[in-house]
Amino acid sequence: MYTQSFNVPDGGTPTLQAVPAPVDADLQARFDAVIDADGKIEPRDWMPDAYRKTLVRQISQHAHSEIVGMLPEGNWISRAPSLKRKTILVAKVQDEGGHGLYLYSAAETLGTSRDQMFDALHSGRAKYSSIFNYPTLTWADVGVIGWLVDGAAIMNQIPLCRCSYGPYARAMIRVCKEESFHQRQGYEALLTMMQGTPEQKAMVQDAVNRWWWKCLAMFGPPDTDSPNSVQGMRWGIKRISNDDLRQKFVDATVPQAEVLGVTLPDPDLKWNAERGHHDFGAIDWDEFWQVVNGNGPCNQERLATRVKAWEDGAWVREAALAHARKQEQRARQEAA
Ligand SMILES: [Fe+2]
Ligand SMILES: [Fe+2]
Repeated sequence: MYTQSFNVPDGGTPTLQAVPAPVDADLQARFDAVIDADGKIEPRDWMPDAYRKTLVRQISQHAHSEIVGMLPEGNWISRAPSLKRKTILVAKVQDEGGHGLYLYSAAETLGTSRDQMFDALHSGRAKYSSIFNYPTLTWADVGVIGWLVDGAAIMNQIPLCRCSYGPYARAMIRVCKEESFHQRQGYEALLTMMQGTPEQKAMVQDAVNRWWWKCLAMFGPPDTDSPNSVQGMRWGIKRISNDDLRQKFVDATVPQAEVLGVTLPDPDLKWNAERGHHDFGAIDWDEFWQVVNGNGPCNQERLATRVKAWEDGAWVREAALAHARKQEQRARQEAA
């Protein structure tokens, strides 16, 4: 899924090493010209170290978010209420795994190995979207994650299809198409529940109440507290500011909530005719930072599940490498 639309420095240091490049005025000028012309920087091109480092951090955090994002919903695959819902959910969770793979591949083109990135994630140094550190308590949470979390992700990721770094931009085009399916399946699941029993309707409302504010925080701190955003905009990595994306999300979601028949849990949420946008209440940034810094309800559980999956899969990686070595040997023998 899902990038956080800001760069959180990874904890510790220096696992995510970027390849150092010489500073050369001509190269810098060429890079600036491509950026100014709204062109694409490709892996073979010279780029400033800071640009490379920013991208490695952002793309790897995004990749980690995709695969950690599989966990809260994966918990519901065995408990989906029908074969149809189970099939849809399996497809969605599988998509998220695929998003992780495209993004790890994009980050690798910047000179960082996948092992380095996994090591940063598994040792707890790397960040991922804090939204996945909350539990999925009922089936309605799965629908709300599709509707709101994937919905916020789309808002955030569509501008990334125009990112100045070619491999990231191209990966995001396919990701966004799949996120659109995720959002619709979530909304459709909730619509079905809202036509059901009073208990089902209450379950949907409860899930919306628990996820709404966390989704607004997914867009990252207010613009006034996001000093790195300016540089990201200059480099064509970031196209729309955190606050503008958040506003677009609120404006798009309010009419959807009305059709669904749920209330968004914000007494200050109202249309402002003068601004042509909805006003909304204050986000609890203390809670957000608590979760980003490892103290959310599920941080430890998510990390432990990831590490276990990595360790349990060691034999598969070893077998694949042994097979590749055998193939190579055979090809060499046949060529001799
Ligand atoms: Fe998604
Ligand atoms: Fe995704």
